[in-house]
Amino acid sequence: MRSAPRANPYRDAWAGDLDADRAGSAARVSGWVHNRRDHGGLIFVDLRDRSGIVQLVFHPENGAEQFAAAERLRAEYVISVAGGVVRREAGQVNPNLATGEIEIQVREMALLAESQTPPFPLDSDVELDEMLRLRNRTLDLRRRSMVDALVLRHEVVRTIRETLSDEDFLEIETPILTKSTPEGARDFLVPSRLQPGSFYALPQSPQLFKQLLMVAGYERYFQIARCFRDEDLRADRQPEFTQLDLEMSFVEEDDVIDVNERLMAKVFAVGGLDIQAPPYPRMGYEEAMLRFGSDRPDTRFGLEITDVSEHLRASEFKVFASVLNRAHPPGVVRAINAGAREVPRKELDELTEVAKRAGAGGLVWAFVQEDGSWRSPIAKFLSNEEIGGLTTALDASAGDLLLAVADKADVAANALGTLRLDLANRWDLVPEGRHDVLWVVDFPMFALNEDEDRWDASHHPFTAPTAPDGNTAAALAAAESPGRWKSRAYDLVVDGWELGGGSIRIHDPAVQSLVFDAIGLDAAEAELRFGFLLEALRFGAPPHGGIAFGIDRIVALLAGLPSIRDVIAFPKTASGSDPLTGAPAQVDARQLRELGLRSTAP
Ligand code: AMO
Repeated sequence: MRSAPRANPYRDAWAGDLDADRAGSAARVSGWVHNRRDHGGLIFVDLRDRSGIVQLVFHPENGAEQFAAAERLRAEYVISVAGGVVRREAGQVNPNLATGEIEIQVREMALLAESQTPPFPLDSDVELDEMLRLRNRTLDLRRRSMVDALVLRHEVVRTIRETLSDEDFLEIETPILTKSTPEGARDFLVPSRLQPGSFYALPQSPQLFKQLLMVAGYERYFQIARCFRDEDLRADRQPEFTQLDLEMSFVEEDDVIDVNERLMAKVFAVGGLDIQAPPYPRMGYEEAMLRFGSDRPDTRFGLEITDVSEHLRASEFKVFASVLNRAHPPGVVRAINAGAREVPRKELDELTEVAKRAGAGGLVWAFVQEDGSWRSPIAKFLSNEEIGGLTTALDASAGDLLLAVADKADVAANALGTLRLDLANRWDLVPEGRHDVLWVVDFPMFALNEDEDRWDASHHPFTAPTAPDGNTAAALAAAESPGRWKSRAYDLVVDGWELGGGSIRIHDPAVQSLVFDAIGLDAAEAELRFGFLLEALRFGAPPHGGIAFGIDRIVALLAGLPSIRDVIAFPKTASGSDPLTGAPAQVDARQLRELGLRSTAP
């Protein structure tokens, strides 16, 4: 419960806290005119401050001058009023308002500031154009939904700080002006005036600094850290965003997971999220890709993917045969039973488009008929055994729609994974109020970068790898290819959102060098970019590991909002600009000269 404000000439109570217990007393409140209604000789004003809304009543008999002033009030004027808190008449009680049983009969009013007419109403939850909102963010932030989101955000961060402090973590800040860090996005660069031609990079995460803190012996670190990544923006991505970043020494996966499950259970409770209690289930990467076509599976609804390749090995149908008989890379046929549903041709074409946009060459569809045969453009190319085998494998019965993709395994997984999400959305398949949490584990250490013919770290190159025979440098070197290494990484996924990811780190400099080598960083370049880390690892590095969560994503999830922009006070648009301030903006020639820069932009 909020404590009352210190009484001063503006206020002695919060508007939203006045209730029937205060009836009969006097109160002084300040805030904004939410709206004004004139009713047969009385004026009603809803007064808003951050805590909520209280109804003011102006009677002419309480002072003609003050009544005349009330007639001139407009939306968003700032006023301070004093008067008696009285119960409303029975018929006037507003059960939707915390203060709905009372009103303030105003005796005194001071007009503190006038306001121009706002470009949109602030007293209703009408859908507004986002550009309009962002251009007028100061006003948009006055709206209840924004206040609620930012209050929730504060409570989440407060819970994190309290819980981790109690668990003996230290909050330590790391630099913003730093050197390029390796999270795989582009860096934002800041030119140095004192060393023209040199640049700082803004951190994509505090990854290397938190590892240095472990080597330095700080044992348990956390930070509410701002991170910067110059990447393509989406509803769940901003160029600057906030992480809960943490790291621990002398730990293995289960230790990190244990602390974080206890923490996240508390964080979920702050938002009143109805979700399972720890321990959270864990799913291997391969299983996630196979069944859900994604490394952040949304398990709240069915439509699971089944690999049906085995039933088609002997197929003479060209599309399947060419994919399945290909040696390298091997192909698969995978399918979804979309259930009994009348889906018109036009919608099937749309679904095909979805699969194609996700990389598939096409989408096969089939309806199972009463006699077990298929109504499908490809039915005539398949034998009865093949049709029967597929129908059984997909647990299908009359009326069911089957959707299949034949392609490389990763393409088929991605296409069907995307299709699954599209179908759930299209047919509203996610049960109302359901939330699922799980860890995804056992990631491959590397993904093949076919364009550049090298390995890319799937997580980041400081993640500890394991080989079939162990995780020492010798065991790793003995594996036939780094493509066989797994990583000791774990991601926390809720409702198909990656909320956080982390790993056990490399603490052996020899292993670190092997990983740099695998991603094509030769010794000289590794030294140039990450020499400070390699050097630290040579001075007694403890085994360590950690994780980072996206705070914006956590709060958006808890608030039930689809975009993280709605839980950030001053976010950027999809093109990375801030319509409020006009950033990014041009700078004057003198500033550029001082920095030793010349723009080549047209
Ligand atoms: P990673 O890159 O997976 O890991 O980031 C961790 C979490 O940060 C959030 N996140 C973002 N949120 C909003 N906008 C973005 N552009 C954005 N990018 C990432 C996600 C993600 O799960 N240093 C490692 C962590 C570690 O290994 O400890 C890292 O940054 O919720």
